[in-house]
Amino acid sequence: MINLLIMGKPGAGKGTQASRLLEHYQLTHISTGDIYREEMAKDSEIGKLAKEYIGKGELVPDDITNDIVKEVLHKQDYPKGFMLDGFPRTKAQAVALDKMMDELGITLTSVINVDVDDSVLLERMAGRRVCSNCGATYHIHFHPPVKDCVCDLCGHPLIQREDDLEESVLNRLKIYNEKTKPLLDYYKKKGLLFVVNGDMPKDKVFRIITQKLGD
Ligand code: AP5
Ligand code: MG
Ligand code: ZN
Repeated sequence: MINLLIMGKPGAGKGTQASRLLEHYQLTHISTGDIYREEMAKDSEIGKLAKEYIGKGELVPDDITNDIVKEVLHKQDYPKGFMLDGFPRTKAQAVALDKMMDELGITLTSVINVDVDDSVLLERMAGRRVCSNCGATYHIHFHPPVKDCVCDLCGHPLIQREDDLEESVLNRLKIYNEKTKPLLDYYKKKGLLFVVNGDMPKDKVFRIITQKLGD
């Protein structure tokens, strides 16, 4: 069983690498951002609440996010292991995750930090397009769809995420520096941290990660 965390600034390429790694290691993807976007699309109670925070680039409160992850982990629907993407993002979430994993008798294999310079992020997020149906991620320059504005996988229209506007991106980056960056030290001290330079073509980033984790 391989249980991974993928961390990094907003737009670093967590989701992009996660989707390849999931396939490669047959892992179950647990992305709190994706879960919130699905709930917002359904206009559920959680979705309505999350929308108030996400649009502004704020974090959804810890207790709500922790409860969601706890429920998903307790289903134990990850025969080969899981890839947590976008969680934990605060010290309180990291402590809660340790407790959840203790209860389940499982451990983390590795924490991957996809490291990119701030200057790269704005360009990545300004050009990001996501499928309105399946959530697949594209970039107008770095990963364009075969047919303009249409998902290669399911044919639905591509849209821009509402939190990809520059103001929201800058706020996400500020919150990352305050709340999430300190977690790198938390995992470094546990001997779990692996830093990969994310400012390279995505295939190369993927190869470096799999070389480190082993085939
Ligand atoms: P979330 O969905 O997790 O967003 P994020 O952390 O801001 O990260 P992104 O998804 O924006 O970026 P990414 O690193 O996945 O990059 P991607 O692969 O798409 O969270 C959204 C919001 O939900 C949060 O702000 C918060 O409000 C809430 N939330 C979620 N989790 C929470 C939690 N735990 N607690 C509280 N609130 C929470 O790549 C970006 C672009 O770059 C794409 O267009 C891609 O094609 C392109 N690209 C990727 N890699 C490369 C490369 N190597 N070269 C060139 N282009 C590349
Ligand atoms: Mg993502
Ligand atoms: Zn699609």
